Amino acid sequence: MAIYKSHSPQCAVWMALTLVTCVGGKILSVAATWDDSHLTPSFYDNKCPHLQKVVSSKVEAGRRRDQRLPASVLRLHFHDCFVNGCDGSILLDDRPGFVGEKSAAPNLNSARGFELIDDIKQDVEALCPDTVSCADILTIAARDSVALSGGPYWEVQLGRRDSLTASKTDAENSIPQPTFTVTQLVASFNAVGLNEKDVVALSGSHSFGKARCTSFQNRLGNQASGSQSPGSDPFLESSYLAKLQTLCPSNGDGNTTVNLDHFTPVHFDNQYYKNLQAAKGLLNSDAVLHTTNGQSNQLVEIYANDERVFFKDFAQSVLKMGSIKVMTGNKGEVRRNCRLPNTIRA
Ligand code: HEM
Repeated sequence: MAIYKSHSPQCAVWMALTLVTCVGGKILSVAATWDDSHLTPSFYDNKCPHLQKVVSSKVEAGRRRDQRLPASVLRLHFHDCFVNGCDGSILLDDRPGFVGEKSAAPNLNSARGFELIDDIKQDVEALCPDTVSCADILTIAARDSVALSGGPYWEVQLGRRDSLTASKTDAENSIPQPTFTVTQLVASFNAVGLNEKDVVALSGSHSFGKARCTSFQNRLGNQASGSQSPGSDPFLESSYLAKLQTLCPSNGDGNTTVNLDHFTPVHFDNQYYKNLQAAKGLLNSDAVLHTTNGQSNQLVEIYANDERVFFKDFAQSVLKMGSIKVMTGNKGEVRRNCRLPNTIRA
């Protein structure tokens, strides 16, 4: 059995399990129920022993500069993995003759945190040239983003390779939309091998970070005159609705941002599920998890009542997400610059 050291400040102990999570200083084991046989936590142990320390100190410094950054980095990992697997494709810039995923609707004017990944990559290249993929750096940074914001810590699986290309069309089709119903959310997660429990656990990411008015304006019943306004969403609590209408007036800037979690906006905790119970979920895709009877509604209750269960399930689901269609071995490449394939000179 391999022994791994935790790099979590809250959980400085030696771990003797393949997959573990740490909650409030206690180790929780997580059963591996998916095929991640090509990835391993020890992938860089000899090739780049200080990798995880470099990443976590950069994420910590980034969080000190910008409290929203951890949320943005976690979302980059999600948008990377849902589009043809966790291969760093979202990090590729558009260039003459090539359109990547950054300008796809779910990312345009929205995805952020790219500079932090560049910054980490630069340090990692100086330490261990041509060794660590951008997809793995993003995976570690996402884990540290959660842990440093008060959420669970889990041992990441490593060994991903970077894609040579990216797909704007696939990004538009594969990333779930905020207007989705539970049925649509589950279908989009099923398409990448995830299930309804993963939908509810991973939606807990909306425990921190921000959304633009344009992502939920249709719930406010104050769309610009001329458009067909169906009225406000009856599942929005009235004082919260009034606040959102003030923050996002009909004639306002759709790019104005609002906290996804009204009460603890920069902490990763189970307040998100309590918000759903109180009809204070920001996105339609959040609210429906509670208003739709079935497994999702039951899980919202469980996570709202017990943060430990949420943290454990979140860690398990995010590990599953991180193993979607990974490329390993000689496939793809290890990009030197996360924004460009190696064949293109920076
Ligand atoms: C269940 C389906 C999901 C939908 C429909 C959805 C939709 C959205 C939308 C519309 C935003 C705001 C974007 C904007 O207005 O600029 C957002 C933000 C965010 N999402 Fe999701 N999301 C989903 C699942 C996830 C998952 C699985 C994760 C991570 C594992 C995640 C992490 C985040 C984070 C952290 C933010 C805030 C980012 C920031 O502040 O920069 N979301 N999401």
